[in-house]
Amino acid sequence: MGCLLLVPSLSKPRSTETMPGDHGSTVDTSGDRTLLLQLDKVDFCYPQRHGQKSRVFALRNISLNLYDGEIVCLAGTSGSGKTTLASIIVGMYEPTCGNLMFNVSRKRIAWVGQKPVLFEGTLADNISYGSPSANLRDIEVAAQAAGCGEFIKKSPRGLDTTVGCEGSGFVHLSGGEKARLSVARALLVKPVIMVMDEPTAGLDAASSRSLMQSLRCYVSGTSCSFSSHRTCRAVVIVSHDPIVQQLSDRIVWMSNGILQSQ
Ligand SMILES: Nc1ncnc2c1ncn2[C@@H]1O[C@H](COP(=O)(O)OP(=O)(O)OP(=O)(O)O)[C@@H](O)[C@H]1O
Ligand SMILES: [Mg+2]
Repeated sequence: MGCLLLVPSLSKPRSTETMPGDHGSTVDTSGDRTLLLQLDKVDFCYPQRHGQKSRVFALRNISLNLYDGEIVCLAGTSGSGKTTLASIIVGMYEPTCGNLMFNVSRKRIAWVGQKPVLFEGTLADNISYGSPSANLRDIEVAAQAAGCGEFIKKSPRGLDTTVGCEGSGFVHLSGGEKARLSVARALLVKPVIMVMDEPTAGLDAASSRSLMQSLRCYVSGTSCSFSSHRTCRAVVIVSHDPIVQQLSDRIVWMSNGILQSQ
């Protein structure tokens, strides 16, 4: 049976602060680094398919800490369990065994999936989905940080240009442009933990580098555009991209559902 443990604080705090919008969850600020998330000996099996003799473990004995201010890259061969692990972190699945402990509200964890999803509406609508109270300035800042600036400028009505469900409306978006739009949407929510699955898959090297710089500003709170006050932030990014790996703080290598090194 899955055992999910939600704890308000991972260790007894000497001093605590409440995260804005976090409805009372507390953060331990006593150590050098604030622990945001901890996976302790997590196993995960997908449900057994009809005709399958035994359940196959997609994740085995995963222990991982995520700290405030860091960008962690999940790397490894295809089928090694990266997306599964990312899905566990965002709460799409519960561990089959082991513990998952949060120091943040789960509502403050955002997901940027491998396949960007767009909606009928304008570019601005697509970015602000999930942040209905965002103003135009916030939307522009998130768009710029996610590398959408150029194609929005080229679109006939800027942020007011309409896109179809598949990007086939008034503006045709490439795979990379759709991906950047969904990154902007996630940035606008200002999550504490952002989990991204191959966000640079459709991007050239310069765009990948630029996205990583934006994420660095985001987690460090150095970007004037994203921080009126410093809150806890971290990014988990699934990627094969050497630029992403190079610009991350840590690479966690996975193989056959097992964590190799970090
Ligand atoms: N919905 C599912 N049901 C059953 N098994 C699944 C499901 N999704 C993934 N798996 C299996 O779990 C294992 C890990 O898959 P996962 O998608 O996490 O790998 P990955 O490292 O993200 O691979 P890739 O780099 O190709 O995206 C694979 O063996 C895969 O077949
Ligand atoms: Mg994957």
